Order: sequence, then C-alpha cells, then structure tokens
Amino acid sequence: MKRFYIETFGCQMNVHDSEKVIGTLEQRGYEQVHTAEDADLVFYNTCSIRDKAEQKVFHRLDQFKREAGKGKVFAVIGCVAQQEGEKIFDRAPHVSLVAGSASYTKLPEMLVQIESGDRRVTGLSLETDETFDTPYTRRDNPHRAYITIIEGCDKSCAYCVVPFTRGPERSRTSESVLNEAGELARAGYTEIQLLGQNVNSYRDPSPAGFNFAQLLEAVGRVEGIRRVRFTTSHPRDFGRDIVEAIDRTETLCNQIHLPVQSGSTNVLAAMQRQYTRDEYMRRIEWMKSARRDIAISTDIIVGFPGETEADFEQTLQLLDEVEYDSIFSFKYSPRPNTAALALGDHIPDEEKGRRLTALQERQRAIQLRRNTRLVGTELEVLVEGFNSSTSQWIGRTAQNRVLNFTLPARNGGEQPGRREMLGRYLPIRVTRAGPNSLAGECAMLV
Ligand code: 5AD
Ligand code: SF4
Repeated sequence: MKRFYIETFGCQMNVHDSEKVIGTLEQRGYEQVHTAEDADLVFYNTCSIRDKAEQKVFHRLDQFKREAGKGKVFAVIGCVAQQEGEKIFDRAPHVSLVAGSASYTKLPEMLVQIESGDRRVTGLSLETDETFDTPYTRRDNPHRAYITIIEGCDKSCAYCVVPFTRGPERSRTSESVLNEAGELARAGYTEIQLLGQNVNSYRDPSPAGFNFAQLLEAVGRVEGIRRVRFTTSHPRDFGRDIVEAIDRTETLCNQIHLPVQSGSTNVLAAMQRQYTRDEYMRRIEWMKSARRDIAISTDIIVGFPGETEADFEQTLQLLDEVEYDSIFSFKYSPRPNTAALALGDHIPDEEKGRRLTALQERQRAIQLRRNTRLVGTELEVLVEGFNSSTSQWIGRTAQNRVLNFTLPARNGGEQPGRREMLGRYLPIRVTRAGPNSLAGECAMLV
C-alpha cells in the first residue's frame, strides 16, 4: 500500500491546491495518513509570502534528514518550490520532487517518474496550459467548498512574491465555474468560496464575457447555494458593481476583504499599490452606503522600508475611520525577486514589533466595540463544529464572525449528535461579545 502525508502552509489557494493533490493521489491508489512517520510519500505544500513561512518547510525537512535512503520520498510543492526551484535539492538532498502550483496538472506523470525510482523530478514551468479541471478534488469540508476562478497575479506590489510563485493571471470560463458550483450544490454543499489572488480582475474568456460582479451574482443564483464568499480583492480593480451585486443578492455574504496594506499614500506609492488613501476610502464609502450591513476586513503591513512614524500614525487613523470588523497584520519581510528588496530593510525588527502591537491593540478595541453592538440581535449561523472543552457549538455568521452557542434543553435534555448538527443553518440570539468572537443561544428548539 502506498501511503502519503501532506502538510499545507499558507493561504486558501494552497489549501484548495492540496485538495486537488490529495484527490489526484487517491485516484492513483495512494492512501492518506496523518503523520509523516507513517507515510511512504511526504508532501509539503509551501508558502513563501514571508520569510518565517518559508523557513518552516526547511525545518520540517531537516527533521527528516536521516530518513533519506530509507525509502521515504519527500516532495516540496507550492510557492517555495516555485521560488527556490532546484536549489531545494542542494539544501535538502533527500527531496525527490519539486513542483510549483502551475504544474499540478502534470502531477500524475511526475508520480509515475517517482514510482519508477527517479530521485529528481521537477515541475517548474509557469507557462501553463491551465484547464482548471479538477476531476479528483478531495474536499475536506462537506458543507463549504472552494472554487478557483482566476490563477496568478499581474500586479507588481513591491513587497510580494506571488507574481513570481503563481505566474501571470489566467481566468477560468464562467461556464466551467458555474458547472462546478452546480455539481457542488447537487452534492450537498451550501457555501462556496471563490478564490483568486485578485478576483476583481477576473475576465471570462468565454463568449458570455462575465466580469467578476456578474460571475459572483450568477454563482449566488445557483440552486441550493446559500452562501457565497470571495477572496482576495485588490482595491485598484474593486468596482462598485460588486457592492451592488451583494445588495441585490441575499446569498452573497455581506462581507468583503479589501487589503489596504497602509493608510499612508506615500507608503502605498512606494509599495506600487496603484491607489491612494482617498481612492481606497471611496471604496469603503461604497460599502458603508450599501443597503445591507457589510462587514469589512483588511490586510496591513507595518515597517515597509521608509515608513515613518507619521505614515504609521495614518494607518492607525485609518483603522478608526473604517472601523474594520477584523484585520490581518504583518511585519514587513523582504522577499527574493521583489522590487522592495532594493530599498533595504532599515526599520529594525524591534520597531516593527512595536508598531504591530500598537496596531493590533487599537484594532482589538474597535472589534470589541463592533461585536458588542450585536448583543441582543439574532443572527443566522452555519454550524461548523463542536468545542468539547466548552460544550458549545461553533457557528459562523454571514459576516464571517465566529458565534459559539448552546442549545436550549430539549424534552428529555439530551444533545443532538454532531451528524445531525453540522452543516445546519440556525438562528442564534447573541448574548455576549468578545473582540474575536460572539457567544449566544440557539433561538429555536432543534
Ligand atoms: N511581508 C509582509 N507581509 C506580506 N504580505 C505579502 N507580502 C508580504 C511581505 N513581503 C501580506 C500582505 C498580503 C497578505 C496575504 O500578506 O498584507 O495582503
Ligand atoms: Fe503563500 Fe502567497 Fe503562495 Fe498563498 S500565494 S501560499 S499566501 S506565497
């Protein structure tokens, strides 16, 4: 029996890529196991967005150095593989396969080579004849499914490796996206998350010629789909038609992730983001003037080369102005091949840390305030899990908040089982709020 183990680092695109890799491996007769020790074939699907993420895979590989020659095969795939290429063989000689995400359609052929004993197999071309066909995708979550609508990125943000690791933009046909959504709905999935490095620049290559907002609305109309989300957006390409589609279509979640990166127009220019603070704020105004209450989240980098105290202060003020529902924030990390590398990295790590903490503290207070406003309201959640240490069910609202809840006692007092609960949509009355989640009680007998 051929057993494989896979560990995934990085973003949802990587998580979804792993689902495709798992499906392909299972189709070839491999069985997934849950530790590297138990496996004949070990896959690391890697991320290189920041240095820390990249180092993780080399730590993992170091742990298994002594396994070399014992028949265990190691494969490094994803963004570090694309970025470092054959250099990975020098650094970790026990690795046998190095492949970037644009080469996964060739994975079956590469596996044949590995099975016949090849010790050095690579898939590093970015010139892909991508079909987006995912015949063997093995999805882990039975209720929520990812669908890739666009691969790659044509922007050139000065700090970012993605254009180098995922190649140029290629959009998938609307027909193929809608077919996959329809199949998923028939298989019982109710939530769909559309994925791309920059979903807003989606351009349908088929005669239907949909833009992103049109595709989004069409997915929202697929019978059986109750929730649609999308990630990630670039402010430069973010059109008002997306907000209008959300206003018109109840199944499109009232939640938008719009990475700003910095609140200072000067820093944005140095980052080559192609928008100013005012242009970004105009997009926020579109969301705030919508009929529905739209939750807004963002990504922020602190300590980009040249970021002054005054620039950073503008980012803090932006938090107050927008009142984000959540943020992801990072210390700037210099990356290979990127334009910002030439600018050096002159903000000391300690100062980056101070800014990051200040930013996160400011945001924490905003989130607590925003979440507290929801106490007393009733929100619909999709039930995603059960936390046995607190005996609470874990739900997620349309606005992407975690809402942990308890059930009112049934006649006889027993709890329904997980199988009965997971994947259901239930109304929950919010009773408490914290900065990162809500707590409540189910508003009906289940
Ligand atoms: N350093 C720190 N953060 C980065 N990001 C992308 N590149 C870098 C980098 N070199 C962040 C951005 C992006 C998110 C996915 O990761 O905020 O939106
Ligand atoms: Fe990491 Fe970016 Fe690659 Fe996603 S696309 S895995 S975030 S480097």
